[in-house]
Amino acid sequence: MIQEFNKISRVEGELDLPGDKSISHRAVMFASMAKGTSRIYNLSNGEDVKSTQNCFKELGVEINTKENFVEITGKGFKGFKEPSKPLDAGNSGTTTRLISGILAAQNFESTIIGDEYLSKRPMKRIISPLTLMGGKISSTENFTLPMTIHPAEKLTPINYELPIASAQVKSAVLLAGLHCDEHTTVIERIPSRDHTERMLGLKVEQTPERRIIYSSKENYPEPKGYFVPSDISTAAFFIILTLLSKNSSLKIKNVSLNETRTGIIYILKKMGAKIETKNERTIAGEPLGDLIIYSSKLKNINITEEIIPNIIDEIPILSIAGIFAEGSFTINNAGELRGKETDRIKAICHNLKLLGLTVEEYEDGFSFGGEIKNNSPVFESFGDHRIAMAFGILSLHLQGGGKVNNFKCVSISNPSFLNQINKIVR
Ligand code: S3P
Repeated sequence: MIQEFNKISRVEGELDLPGDKSISHRAVMFASMAKGTSRIYNLSNGEDVKSTQNCFKELGVEINTKENFVEITGKGFKGFKEPSKPLDAGNSGTTTRLISGILAAQNFESTIIGDEYLSKRPMKRIISPLTLMGGKISSTENFTLPMTIHPAEKLTPINYELPIASAQVKSAVLLAGLHCDEHTTVIERIPSRDHTERMLGLKVEQTPERRIIYSSKENYPEPKGYFVPSDISTAAFFIILTLLSKNSSLKIKNVSLNETRTGIIYILKKMGAKIETKNERTIAGEPLGDLIIYSSKLKNINITEEIIPNIIDEIPILSIAGIFAEGSFTINNAGELRGKETDRIKAICHNLKLLGLTVEEYEDGFSFGGEIKNNSPVFESFGDHRIAMAFGILSLHLQGGGKVNNFKCVSISNPSFLNQINKIVR
């Protein structure tokens, strides 16, 4: 499906966005593990979180969607049933990597499969530490899906220093650790999103150099109520749409303000963005608040290495802000982008070149500058929801509008993206 966008003149209004994808995955997983019934409010309605729900249904968990919440009756410690068919994680890396930590500790065999994009993504990063714990995992020669997790005798706790800043790897090890009597520890030098440790109430020791996170059977989840704040990664598209529009303002309510995720707001403010935060509070351990965004004149800044994991999912849309900001835009230290839903460095560079910008691609990033020469391009999403939405937002700001090929992948994180745009643009 090719989606066409026309240039807009301004943005105005208020949005309520779906629940944060990372928190939603975890809420479904922890509620499925707990023995008893939990309720999740404002769960993400994206395809990725549906994939997580389908995997747990296949493991015997009862999941019912009600009008205002999702009710999950979980199976308790090692209570999952052996699946009768492969678990289909769809497009979702988070589903695959986190569920692997849980499945590695079960005494039955399970196989995880995924779509053509997920089937190319690297799994060695979780296979290695889970194998160190005694997990028995086989995959393709290249450590990709399909991946079969064989029954484990008993997992052994490990002390694991993360070789890459990845919340998915961190979480896979910590979730496996929930099945051991003694503590597993994960050490991270560069902080990544901390939803797993917050939502499970894990002990964290922090020094300026590193964080050590502990998990053991003591932290195994109990049934409870979850409220999922709106996704800041989804909000980022609308924030930047508003900043780049003249005479505009937008309010986005109940956005997650977890400081391992707010790097995008920090960077945009340093670039000159006018963003106010109101009504800040914490619900179920996760901070949230309302954002009010105003048209702003932006300038590009130096983006430093330690903030990259915090903004990793926002780099596609941040680069769109960079096109309209003063000066040239550079991202380095972001090699992880090559292992996302698509190779996002290649995808961004390909699309920026269509505009006639001067683009340089590096192994771990890219830079670009110059003036837009082609004003009605056809961008390629490469089947990646964040690339599709980023270039959709750009198209709304091009003189001749723009088109995005294979746009339906936006439903991975936000099936209502186009309706939300239509609600606020003039
Ligand atoms: C996620 C972690 C990040 C992020 C992904 C969601 C999570 O991946 O890109 O969209 O929910 O833990 P990595 O931790 O592998 O960088």
